Formats: sequence, structure tokens, C-alpha cells
Amino acid sequence: MDHVHNEPEPRVFSSAMGGQQLERRRVERKMRIHRQPKTLITGIGAVDQLGEEARKLNGTKVLVITDEGVSSCGMCAEVERPLREAGLDVAFYDKAVPEPPMGTIGEIVEIVETGGYDLIVGFGGGSPIDVAKAAAVLPDTGDTVYDYVGIDKVPRKGLPIIAIPTTAGTGSECTAIAIFANEKLNVKQGLVSPFLMPNVALVDPALTLSCPPNVTAASGMDALIHNIEAYISVNATMHTDSLAYEGIKLISQSIRTAVYDGSNMWARDNMAMGSMMGGIAFGNAGVGAVHALSYPIGGMFHVPHGVANTMVLPWAMEFNMLACLRWFKQFGEAMGENMLGLSDREAAEKTVAALRQLADDLNVPQYLSDVGIPESAIPELVEGAKTQARLWANNPRKFTPEDMEQVYRNMAVRPGSKPVKEKKPAADKAAKN
Ligand SMILES: NC(=O)c1ccc[n+]([C@@H]2O[C@H](COP(=O)([O-])OP(=O)(O)OC[C@H]3O[C@@H](n4cnc5c(N)ncnc54)[C@H](O)[C@@H]3O)[C@@H](O)[C@H]2O)c1
Ligand SMILES: [Fe+2]
Repeated sequence: MDHVHNEPEPRVFSSAMGGQQLERRRVERKMRIHRQPKTLITGIGAVDQLGEEARKLNGTKVLVITDEGVSSCGMCAEVERPLREAGLDVAFYDKAVPEPPMGTIGEIVEIVETGGYDLIVGFGGGSPIDVAKAAAVLPDTGDTVYDYVGIDKVPRKGLPIIAIPTTAGTGSECTAIAIFANEKLNVKQGLVSPFLMPNVALVDPALTLSCPPNVTAASGMDALIHNIEAYISVNATMHTDSLAYEGIKLISQSIRTAVYDGSNMWARDNMAMGSMMGGIAFGNAGVGAVHALSYPIGGMFHVPHGVANTMVLPWAMEFNMLACLRWFKQFGEAMGENMLGLSDREAAEKTVAALRQLADDLNVPQYLSDVGIPESAIPELVEGAKTQARLWANNPRKFTPEDMEQVYRNMAVRPGSKPVKEKKPAADKAAKN
């Protein structure tokens, strides 16, 4: 039964921008479920709450999953101390692989099955947190991660999960999603299930201070993109809009400082909060064209997720813009652009230009040729993007396969540079940019 026969007046909400009234673009009338971790602890020192939170979840024997990049910074002591102080047994697994291939997950599942652990901690960027999610639900099922690709394929809640991010990027600490590289299909794929939602997220900006500039830039742009794609998603809600809008503001204000003055705690704190907000926003509203077009770039050429997303961002947004000029104007304002006196179209163009400028300022590649991907790879990239139906369903403008190809062609070769001839993955170059 349709409960709303008479369309009410469009709602307005008072934005944080000087009290200016923005026209609401959708009326909340469909029932919607919103998910996020039951407990969210934020701010400097949040990680010190780990022991107490682990005890509340009846943890006695804890497995912390991280990667070698994080463990080699000496950061594991930050999680070991509070767990030991709470009297818990702790073991570490630091072999999670960045942008984890599905084939690498079997090892950790076996360790959990034989180790008698009763609580999983994911400690690191999105990669170890996603591995932790798989390690919580797969043991003793006989299933593999390939079996759970898609929506609601995870059959049951596994071990409790506490997620502690060390990048300001994926927001994975707040999502019911885990992303892996399917090396059989050469594409990134997602598992989506409420059983993957961490029970507790501890978001401590001090843990991101050691992130080098390239990781800060790429993961920070991923966080901005989560907020933007959630904001323009056709499945956005008032709850996700308010988080996404604030997330865009926080990240736009601080990402340059976080990259070029990494010890600036104000910037790190804004980034950590903006990333968390992006996680909740996109975890409920979804992401769209940018992620759908970037997954094949990551899957086929091992370009880090944040780099691949940033490359696609302005090109996909240029295309999306015409479907929702007002939303572009709004989030451009959240980015700090002055839109006074501009038409909606002029304002939307200014927003796209601001995204390009940001990628330039952070020195993130923007063309396929920048990371060694030849134009001849485009048909295969289009095939990969076509498989991302879950993401296309959120996007404000419908993309045909021809549109996908056009976006890849627009971003194929940096003007003035030579086209790339061979199919030569250049992940290392991208990772070191
Ligand atoms: N589950 C989700 O909701 C979700 C959302 C978006 C992206 N992802 C996935 O997350 C992964 C990317 O995660 P990411 O961008 O956070 O990067 P990452 O976890 O892959 O880490 C990138 C590099 O940074 C290093 N690193 C992390 N924290 C550090 C610190 N504090 N100091 C020094 N080095 C540090 C790591 O060791 C690694 O070498 C991708 O696989 C992506 O698809 C998941
Ligand atoms: Fe992402």
C-alpha cells in the first residue's frame, strides 16, 4: 500500500552553511533500515578502550589481524597493551595482504578454526579490517570467501569483531561490507551482510599519524568519494545525507594539510571523522559509478583502491553531473566553493573542477596512462565495470556500456604524454606516487 498519496511540500533543512536553506531533494517515505556498529568510540585515546570493550563482548582469547606495513611501524603495542591490561590472551596475525586477494583468506580461516579464539580485532587500513570480517564469519562453515560474494550470502553471525582503523579512508570499521580481489575474474568484489558489521569501532586519529603522504592521499580521497557517492546516490536518506554532507566538509577542509603536514592532529582528526561518516553514509546509501569503474582498474592492474577511485572521480562526475545539478551545487558548497550568483549548471561544473584541482594538488594519477594502462585494455575494463550491478543501482545517471567506454576513453591518455603501448601493470608506480 502506498502511504503517501499527496506529495507534501518539499522539506527544507537548515544546512551548516551560514543557515542557508537548501531545498530537500527527496521526501523520506519508504521504510529504510540503517546499520552501523552498536558502539562507536572516537577521538584520541579511543584505542585504550579496547580491553574493556573486548571484555564486554566476552572475549578471552583475542586474535588481532593486521598487515606487515602496520606491524613494522611498531603500532601493535597500541592494541596489545589494553588487551593485556584487561587480562586477555592476545595473538597477532600480520599477514593480511593489502587489497586482499580472495585466495589468501584460507590461511587465516584455518588459524581461527584451530586456535580457539573468541574475538577478532581488525587493526589497520581497510584491507586488514576486511580480512578480519571474513575471518570472523568463515570458520567452521566449510565455505570460502568466493561463496559469500554479493548481498546477504553470509549465513550467520560469526565471532564478534572490533575494528580499529589506522588509515582515514575506507570507513570499513562502520560498514557491513568486505571487499576482496577476485583473482579468478580480475575484479574487486564485495560481500554485503549485516553479519559483517563490526560490533565495536574504535576510531582514534592518533593511529593515522604514521600514514605516509601517498597512503593519506589515496585513502583520504576514497573517504571523500564515499561521502560524495553516498550524497548523490538514489538510495540516500536524510540520515546518510547529513553524515555525507558533513564528511565532505571535514575532508575537503583538511585533506591537503593531512597529506603535506602529516603531524597535524587537527587535520588527522577531521579526516578520521570524515572517513567514519563516509563509511556509515555509503554503507547505507551505497556508492556508484566511481567505484564501479574503478574496481576493474584495481582488479586487473593492482592499482590501490584510493588511487583508482581518484583517477575515475572527475570523469565519472562530469558524466553524473547532468542528472543532478543541484546536488552537485550543494556538495560543491560543502567543499568550500563559492556558488553565489552561479546557475546550477555553472555551479556543478565548478564542483567538478574543484575535484580535479584536489587530485592535482595531492599528486594522485588521473589518467590510465599515468599508471601504465594502455587504451587496448578499455574493452576489458568495460566488461569488468558491467558486472558491478550492485553499484550501478545506486548511481543517479544510468550508464550504458558505451557510456562506460566513453569515460575510460576520456581518461585514457594524459594530454602531451605518449600513449602506453603494452599492457603493463604499474601498481608499484601508483602505490609510490
Ligand atoms: N569494507 C569496506 O567498507 C571498504 C570500503 C572501501 C574500501 N575497502 C577496501 O579497503 C582496501 C583499502 O584500504 P586502505 O585504503 O585503508 O589501505 P590498506 O589497508 O590497503 O593499506 C595501504 C597501506 O598503508 C599501510 N598503512 C596502513 N595504516 C598505516 C599507518 N597508520 N601507518 C603506516 N602505514 C599504514 C598498510 O600497511 C598498507 O601498506 C581495499 O581493498 C578496498 O577495496 C573496503
Ligand atoms: Fe571505496
